[in-house]
Amino acid sequence: MNLVQGGSAQSLGDLKYQSGFGNEFATEALPGALPAGRNSPQHCPYGLYAELLSGTSFTAPRHANRRTWLYRIRPSAAQGPMRRIGNGMLASRFDADAPPERLRWDPMPLPAAPTDFVAGLITMGGNGSPDAQSGCGIHVYAANRSMTERFFCNADGELLLVPQLGRLGLLTEMGRLEVMPLEIAVVPRGVRFRVELPDGPSRGYACENFGSPLKLPDLGPIGSNGLANPRDFETPVAWYEDRSGEFELVTKFQGQLWSAPIDRSPLDVVAWHGNHAPYKYDLRRFNVIGSTSFDHPDPSIYVVLHSPNYAPGVSDIDFVVFAPRWLVSENTFRPPWFHRNIASEFMGLIHGLYDAKAEGFVPGGASLHNCMTPHGPDAATFEKAIQADTTQPQRIADTMAFMFETRLVIRPTRQALEAPQLQKDYADCWKGLKPRFDPQRP
Ligand SMILES: [Fe+2]
Repeated sequence: MNLVQGGSAQSLGDLKYQSGFGNEFATEALPGALPAGRNSPQHCPYGLYAELLSGTSFTAPRHANRRTWLYRIRPSAAQGPMRRIGNGMLASRFDADAPPERLRWDPMPLPAAPTDFVAGLITMGGNGSPDAQSGCGIHVYAANRSMTERFFCNADGELLLVPQLGRLGLLTEMGRLEVMPLEIAVVPRGVRFRVELPDGPSRGYACENFGSPLKLPDLGPIGSNGLANPRDFETPVAWYEDRSGEFELVTKFQGQLWSAPIDRSPLDVVAWHGNHAPYKYDLRRFNVIGSTSFDHPDPSIYVVLHSPNYAPGVSDIDFVVFAPRWLVSENTFRPPWFHRNIASEFMGLIHGLYDAKAEGFVPGGASLHNCMTPHGPDAATFEKAIQADTTQPQRIADTMAFMFETRLVIRPTRQALEAPQLQKDYADCWKGLKPRFDPQRP
């Protein structure tokens, strides 16, 4: 599957990564730049400044504690005064009335005017709030311009990025990542970065997690392997730019965008160590687990990453992927069953077809099935599934759908509810499900 389109801008080239999820990484772009044996020596090598970036409270338990020591050309504190700027279509207040209705959108159009990643963020919905450090903002992005003089920092949460069209070059304080469709990236809270678009016009999805950092789910009876394996997560190696100019640092703070002038690139970290760092993951490496007898399991079997709630077994956010897989269950209705869940589900499609919808749900589009809204396969998919020969294994090949699933209702924004891309006839896809009941046919 080649989803990358040609473009004039350069890719970031052959990048190096460190393997593992949430490891205690140590990396330096110049030999000896990392101080040995201590974090904050009186004089750092090469005249660098030491700076701590914490991602959890200082006293969080060791297994959950996230922080990184940065050794940089100039401390982050050297920046100009902040002033409020317009938010565009980015929002963190979710106060529109949420209809108890199934919602589905066509893809958002690519911008006509020059638009960078930050300006191209369109909030579809969310719950909780940045001030409560709980909940999420769900966005799509549609952009066509690389950030070169502009940098972004999100104090409100970490960003899970799911490109659907075009690669993202992520140049961050901790190094560079390149992420293509079928891959994801996570930029932790507070990390400064800019986004290049090597393929020009680009589109995708973003989940902004206001709560506890995303982590790998426990595997329970599955054992010590399976689903997303830790070694397939990749974190960049140290890289820096020593660049002066008239730059802008945009900070998202308590839902609002603020701008500060900055006369040097904030991507000036020559060495760092810690575990609060960006990472990427190739969704094609997801080891799908499923039934080999009858009945397919709950979709929790497809969780890639989650942000756990304090209540045991409950997630604030689940990032779930419906990857290519074999279905081998016998005498089983193989598509997702009809259901009404307490959780709320925002779905997107990166590539191909989703196995519960024959049409209308296209790559770049989205659907929202909130708490207790009834949904499931459309009529065409149902008919096909009950006629399928279930003695034969079935390969779901050409697909990559995903879900941001949350404990709380996802309130769509007014702009999402009023968007021309909202499909007025979505409910019609279940219209053809006629009664099949026959008391004479047990
Ligand atoms: Fe569902």
